[in-house]
Amino acid sequence: MGQEIIRLLELREFPVAETRLLASSRSVGREYKACGNLETVRETTPEAFKGLDFAIFSAGGSISKEFAEDARKHGCVVIDNSSAFRMEPSVPLVIPEINPSSVEKHKGIISNPNCSTIVALMALYPLHKRFGLKHFFASTYQAVSGAGASGVTELEKQSRTVLGGGEQVPPEVFPHPIAFNLIPHIDEFREDGYTKEELKMRNESRKIMDHSGLKVSCTCVRVPVIRAHAMSLNADFKHPVNVPDAHAAIEAFNGTELWDLPNALRYPMPLDYAEKEVCGVGRLRLDQVFENGLALWAVGDQLWKGAALNAVQIAELLIRQNLLRVL
Ligand SMILES: NC(=O)c1ccc[n+]([C@@H]2O[C@H](COP(=O)([O-])OP(=O)(O)OC[C@H]3O[C@@H](n4cnc5c(N)ncnc54)[C@H](OP(=O)(O)O)[C@@H]3O)[C@@H](O)[C@H]2O)c1
Repeated sequence: MGQEIIRLLELREFPVAETRLLASSRSVGREYKACGNLETVRETTPEAFKGLDFAIFSAGGSISKEFAEDARKHGCVVIDNSSAFRMEPSVPLVIPEINPSSVEKHKGIISNPNCSTIVALMALYPLHKRFGLKHFFASTYQAVSGAGASGVTELEKQSRTVLGGGEQVPPEVFPHPIAFNLIPHIDEFREDGYTKEELKMRNESRKIMDHSGLKVSCTCVRVPVIRAHAMSLNADFKHPVNVPDAHAAIEAFNGTELWDLPNALRYPMPLDYAEKEVCGVGRLRLDQVFENGLALWAVGDQLWKGAALNAVQIAELLIRQNLLRVL
């Protein structure tokens, strides 16, 4: 993800004076081009954040918990990609197109939502504004890069082996072989049978849309796709719905495009949305179960809008709103 963050800082011409690449001791000394300079990776230490305005954390929840307070103490605003602080009441959980004003109350740590939650809400929020969302079902189809660079390596290795007629390579990153398979299991199982990933969809959606009564039931599935998460969504609304108004609501929403001409075989797919800043919505139709329901299909690059891009957009928002301070 770090490399995607650098790419987006460059593509969006983010006003960078200095970049520091921090990782574990394993990567110290590696060199990468970043924002016009060749940078050497340094080890993350409490002092490494001194003099920085922002730190985009993307090393997992335990590392975020270990270092976020050090960064904050040095006046460096943390934008955190992990789930470590997302549900803390004092930490804004932000999708800039949806709840930009929540950054105003930040105290030095801002959380980036879960990648599937971002893609789902980029599709559902414009419909919520138009029809008033009551509850929704989500079934996700999540790419292997959602589990980090090692997830991609595992899919590639297993696929090559199977196609070459060899024995399945034992899984290391995923709980089962992912090549030519689907795994209905992302993150840890809870006692109620849902996984933690599935509960993020409900809890984070409630916080981001300030909609405490929202009901969500979600099933998360890992699929052998390299990049971009897809999901099937069935949502019920307070007010009567119709497809033309739903199309218009999606089209008017910044950050999501309507890609919905089934007769022309036009619907969003991961291959089309990888490395794309916008999310896509298609297959939009009246739901056959809910009274005021819509069924739809959404796709978004979870490495970009689901993580790195959303983080960079939060940093841009802080600059625009002159909120670069740690309280
Ligand atoms: N991938 C996604 O689509 C996605 C989307 C949303 C959120 N996230 C979240 O983003 C975080 C990272 O995911 P990822 O996909 O980028 O994983 P990744 O590809 O496995 O990369 C993890 C990075 O963390 C670094 N790291 C490990 N230990 C560290 C330490 N002690 N100090 C500093 N850096 C350390 C690693 O550096 P070394 O190589 O030196 O170990 C590596 O650069 C996770 O919390 C994940 O849930 C990921």
